[in-house]
Amino acid sequence: MNGTPEPRVPGPGPRPFPIAVLASGRGSNLAALIDAREAGRLPVDIVLVAGDRADAPALRNASAHGIPALALDPKSFPDRRSFDRALLARVAASGARLVVLAGYMRIIDAAVVADWAGRMINIHPSLLPKYRGLHTHRRALAAGDLEHGTSVHFVSAELDGGPVIAQARIEVRRDDTEDALAARLLLQEHRLLVACVDAIARGQVRECNGSVLLDDAAICAPLRLDPSGHLVAA
Ligand code: GAR
Repeated sequence: MNGTPEPRVPGPGPRPFPIAVLASGRGSNLAALIDAREAGRLPVDIVLVAGDRADAPALRNASAHGIPALALDPKSFPDRRSFDRALLARVAASGARLVVLAGYMRIIDAAVVADWAGRMINIHPSLLPKYRGLHTHRRALAAGDLEHGTSVHFVSAELDGGPVIAQARIEVRRDDTEDALAARLLLQEHRLLVACVDAIARGQVRECNGSVLLDDAAICAPLRLDPSGHLVAA
């Protein structure tokens, strides 16, 4: 990320809006983005899918859809920062104006995150700020929560921190298991992530000084999905 500074905040720009996706595993959120794009519901061009695991199904799926896929091996770098710098340099070279962390399971170095402030989002399976980190479904069940959910947020140096753009909520059922809850929530994750990427690509949502703006006005609470899958004020 050296050289000409990029604008910190994505604007409407020419369509389709170029995005890169970082993924470490299964890639169902990536698949939701690909499906939406191929169905003409998402005005983006996925210019790169990258990650830390060459065997990740997400990367295989990207290749199958003709999307450039790249894995770098963290073990070939002396430290986290040099790995992250190398990976994000490839993302910058792809022309992406937004980086979507979709099941990317590595913490990104704070200096690298700062380079991408306002241009990197993450999907997390909890109603942030609750349950940052791992095992969110298990923790929601253990706490006896009646409601669970997922959040999409701009990425900051803090793990699963950064301003929350939008959330989707589901009811926790009395007989829920961790797997059942995760599977039900995943369907909402897919809808929420597509809606957030769409809103950013269209210039409707952006980050400014730590706040999320919807149509240039700071939001007071995370946005939610309307029945047609668009983001609306809570
Ligand atoms: C998703 O549930 C996503 O929210 C979570 O990993 C899963 C990836 O699934 N991400 C995190 O926990 C990040 N803190 P996918 O590979 O099928 O998209």
